[in-house]
Amino acid sequence: MPLPSALREALLAHDQLALIEHFGRLNMEDGNRLLADLASLDLPLLARAREDTRSGTTPAAAQIAPPPVIVRGANPAADREATSLGEQALRNGRVAAFVVAGGQGTRLGHPGPKGTYPATPVRGKPLFQVFSEKILAASRRYRSRIPFLVMTSPENHEETQSFFAQHHHFGLREEDLRFFSQGTMPAIDDRGQLILASQTSLFRSPDGHGGSLRALQASGVLAWLEKEGIDLISYFQVDNPLVNPVDPLFLGYHEQSGSEFSAKSVWKRNAGEKVGVFVDVQGKTRVIEYSDLPAELREAKDPAGRLKLGAGSVAIHVIGRPFIEALTTGDLRLPFHAARKDIPAYRDGASVAPIKGTKFETFVFDAMPLARRTMVMLVPREDEFAPIKNREGEDSPETSRRAQADQFARWLEAAGFVVPRDDQGNAPAGLEISPLVADGPEALRSLGSRIGAVRDGLCLE
Ligand code: UD1
Repeated sequence: MPLPSALREALLAHDQLALIEHFGRLNMEDGNRLLADLASLDLPLLARAREDTRSGTTPAAAQIAPPPVIVRGANPAADREATSLGEQALRNGRVAAFVVAGGQGTRLGHPGPKGTYPATPVRGKPLFQVFSEKILAASRRYRSRIPFLVMTSPENHEETQSFFAQHHHFGLREEDLRFFSQGTMPAIDDRGQLILASQTSLFRSPDGHGGSLRALQASGVLAWLEKEGIDLISYFQVDNPLVNPVDPLFLGYHEQSGSEFSAKSVWKRNAGEKVGVFVDVQGKTRVIEYSDLPAELREAKDPAGRLKLGAGSVAIHVIGRPFIEALTTGDLRLPFHAARKDIPAYRDGASVAPIKGTKFETFVFDAMPLARRTMVMLVPREDEFAPIKNREGEDSPETSRRAQADQFARWLEAAGFVVPRDDQGNAPAGLEISPLVADGPEALRSLGSRIGAVRDGLCLE
């Protein structure tokens, strides 16, 4: 079927000859289907993405220095003041929790959205339940409404929503939950040609967690937040059950420092740990992804033998709503990064073996250098970061469950309970405390007799 001339011109201008040829081989019905699919194709955006990835965004090594950070616990009086500011914001209903959950559990061999992965040490509660219960507990504590925003991707949107519905939204009110899908980007092969997923559609993949800011705006959620008087968005990733989805201390320092985009950090385990690092480039704090950090900077040590660039990113942020509005409606934009991947492809009327291609993504932390003010807070890893990323080894379900049980053991001990420990000092691996029972030692103290003796398998619900 003939291509409409405007589309033909546009495809020609962007050198998309393979697609033009493919179109020529289609009958009327398939041609119309492909036309409908191409309605959302943004060729200038694709051209910009390719341009971004050609020019690269990593600053020169000589410009890179360690950034200023606030260290949790270094100044207890300041921490108390910040906590009380953050609590005020929570009591006043100014905060929403936001999880980016566009990813699948594929790397873990888990079918379905990653948030449905069973994460806790005894009950095996799914990640979504852990976050929901922590948010519910906080809304009870502060006697306020804390909406939970869940960003999905086209791949897992329906399944995510029905998972929450099946579980009665884990106790949250339905009207406090907002599900919306992130956008997608087409991919190209090594000749720069668009890749087909089928006879009548392009291959597309999620546009990265940077797409979350655009998706907040495009879905109308940003406008809804404004109407509800919510201006602080507490952002986190779906893979970390130790996260505090709404941390008053972090919210308080964000407010106090006049920050538009704040970030939590843990000190890197070693030079090779696969986390982004916070750096200062000409007075602006930003993140350099681990894969982009030159080896000499990754390994560099200060005179005391500590990593020079050791402030690792745990992808937990507080982002001001007005800043997101400015970013998504103005001229500022996030740069694209390229990822070379095996892409299931379709050619000449049939699926073919995966081909090497390039996917395009934006990263939310690239918004940092665009903000007028930012803040980075360094926190102890054992309290806040135990992600589930790999099937085994570091950052696996096992290490995460261990870290969760260890945190419960520390809370119990701080509350005056005796926790049995083995010769190496390890607490039992089977300890679990529901977020609805306690969020720290203080709440445990009042439970006294209910807990009795701490033993392996203890689960406080
Ligand atoms: C990420 C960060 C890294 C950080 C680390 C902390 C990037 C590129 N790197 O690494 O700097 O130190 O986490 O754990 O982000 N997601 C979407 N939509 C997308 C892509 C990702 O929702 O299109 C979500 C995933 O569901 C997940 C999170 O973003 O919650 C992280 O994505 P992932 O690709 O797993 O990043 P990491 O390599 O773990």
